[in-house]
Amino acid sequence: MAKTHIQLTINGKAIEALVEPRTLLIHFLREDQNLTGPHIGCDTSHCGACTVDFNGRSVKSCTVFAVQADGGDILTIEGIANPDGTLNALQEGFREMHGLQCGFCTPGMITRAWRLLQENPHPTEEEIRFGIAGNLCRCTGYQNIVSAIQYAADRLAGGTIKEAAE
Ligand code: FES
Ligand code: FES
Repeated sequence: MAKTHIQLTINGKAIEALVEPRTLLIHFLREDQNLTGPHIGCDTSHCGACTVDFNGRSVKSCTVFAVQADGGDILTIEGIANPDGTLNALQEGFREMHGLQCGFCTPGMITRAWRLLQENPHPTEEEIRFGIAGNLCRCTGYQNIVSAIQYAADRLAGGTIKEAAE
């Protein structure tokens, strides 16, 4: 199948690639770019394990074709840490508040929460629960995930969450 040339930014790095028009963004990230943080949980737009940030919005990368990302700016869990390599407040929150068990949903959950806190640095519990409604967790019962996001919001109060990979 003929391939299409795409140029995009992933975690602050300029990327050029040839992709088949049918290639999903999640497969491009995992298989071509070796970014295996975003997971494939359902492949049908239900679970949110594949969530990445795309041009300032959270998207389920199993529902986006790689060619649609041409010219775009993508952030995955691999780009979430602070530029000096330390954990950002969300990662720290998930660790401190036990926001994960098996960890399968965690990359998508943290990436989604990152965008949530960009848009609303002081979310209520209800706003957090609504904000992560598209991300399913089969383990935690969600309470610790909510606490982890609250922890990050508190930590960041008075400052702003760092733009990752910049
Ligand atoms: Fe994309 Fe489940 S793998 S939503
Ligand atoms: Fe296991 Fe969320 S920690 S799915």
